[in-house]
Amino acid sequence: MNIKTAYQLLEDSIIYYRGEPVGTAAACDPSPVAVNYHECFVRDFVPSALVFLNSGRAEIVRNFLTTVMNIRGQQTVLEGHQRSMGLMPASFKVIEEDGRESLVADFGERAIGRVVPVDSAMWWMFLLRAYVVTTGDWKYAGSSEVQECMMQILDLYLRERFESSPTLLVPDGSFMIDRRMGVYGYPLEIQALYYGMLEAAKELISGTNGPQTVIENLQVRVEALRAYVRLHYWVDRDRLNQIHRFKSEEFGLGIDNVLNVYPESIPGWMDGWLDNRSGYLAGNQGPGRIDFRFFAQGNLLSILFGLATTEESQGIMNLFAAHWGELIGEMPVKIVYPAVHGKEWMHVTGSDPKNVPWSYHNGGNWPVLIWPFVAAAMRTGRVELAENALETITERLKRDNWPEYYDGRKGGLIGRRANFFQTWSATGLIIAHQLYEDPEFRVLLDSCMYCAEADQ
Ligand code: GLC
Repeated sequence: MNIKTAYQLLEDSIIYYRGEPVGTAAACDPSPVAVNYHECFVRDFVPSALVFLNSGRAEIVRNFLTTVMNIRGQQTVLEGHQRSMGLMPASFKVIEEDGRESLVADFGERAIGRVVPVDSAMWWMFLLRAYVVTTGDWKYAGSSEVQECMMQILDLYLRERFESSPTLLVPDGSFMIDRRMGVYGYPLEIQALYYGMLEAAKELISGTNGPQTVIENLQVRVEALRAYVRLHYWVDRDRLNQIHRFKSEEFGLGIDNVLNVYPESIPGWMDGWLDNRSGYLAGNQGPGRIDFRFFAQGNLLSILFGLATTEESQGIMNLFAAHWGELIGEMPVKIVYPAVHGKEWMHVTGSDPKNVPWSYHNGGNWPVLIWPFVAAAMRTGRVELAENALETITERLKRDNWPEYYDGRKGGLIGRRANFFQTWSATGLIIAHQLYEDPEFRVLLDSCMYCAEADQ
């Protein structure tokens, strides 16, 4: 019954362009919190697309892929500067002028804080692979337009700039957390998506003469990225102990503490937080900096893309089980744990009233994260965790009119400024149920996300 309403919400959210369905609105709330919630966001469309692909409506996904491809690279740049054609918009809308429809894309120019959607092209590539794997339409991926588009994306995302590591350097708010939250630098979610995108590209780029160097670069980057994340982001008891006893200010090669992390930077809440079966990938890494916060989406995507090893994936699920009340609580799943408070909140968020402790991006609970959670639980064979999470969420979401997020340490309250009828809250739940109930869909999603060689 609840699921039926979720499908209805998805149907209501479909956006048409010149008679064709091309995307879904972020929310169908008659009075949304922000004006742009009626637009189609690239990241928000991902769960919509998975539902469409699994219900024989792949043409909507293809229309979306083509639409976003056609409006890429339209960002504003300084006079005389060259635009990167591989940048994809955060969102787009359809406008009507003189009886003719046209598309308007937003690359962050109209967004709060002018944040750049680094994740859009990554999600686009993921969806392209999902579309091709589901339909067998390799011709689409092989077409010259799509190949050119992928090359332009790779040109932008593989370009050498100021990185001193294989991870991707980005500004604050460049992904699902699209406000200041101290997630600049090398946030885990971006690295996981980057890894997924590069793996997808390896499969989708056809090897003609030109792209051969790109394929080689891809291979080198993917392997280096995987090794780097596994070494520098993974935290379990042993690693924590190592960090706890790190020597600092070492010079040269062949040292352990290459990023010069001071043991004094381990936050108080970490004391006793990890039992000897649990671990996770830290939220961010940089010189003298480990962000020890637990970011759910980055960890779950790392399981799904195979960026985390099989053992690490079990460790992450053990952490969820051990801290169920904190990480799942009354509404799966907490986006980040713990929240930042007081002076730290002032510095990290710029005193953002929407991101007060245990709200929105600062430790709120986001129903959309149910789909990667259930997918990760099923993938790691932790069926009981999937079941428990689904039990918690299913009844409540519909009763509450599909809020965007929940507030509170345990996520017990509807988000103070949350939209209602948020599309990805509904589609996330549909996918989670399908994954739990339909083994074929699990196989399909696995083949869209997972790269077997990553296990070594
Ligand atoms: C908020 C979220 C972002 C999402 C958008 C539309 O800005 O932070 O992740 O894409 O709303 O739902």
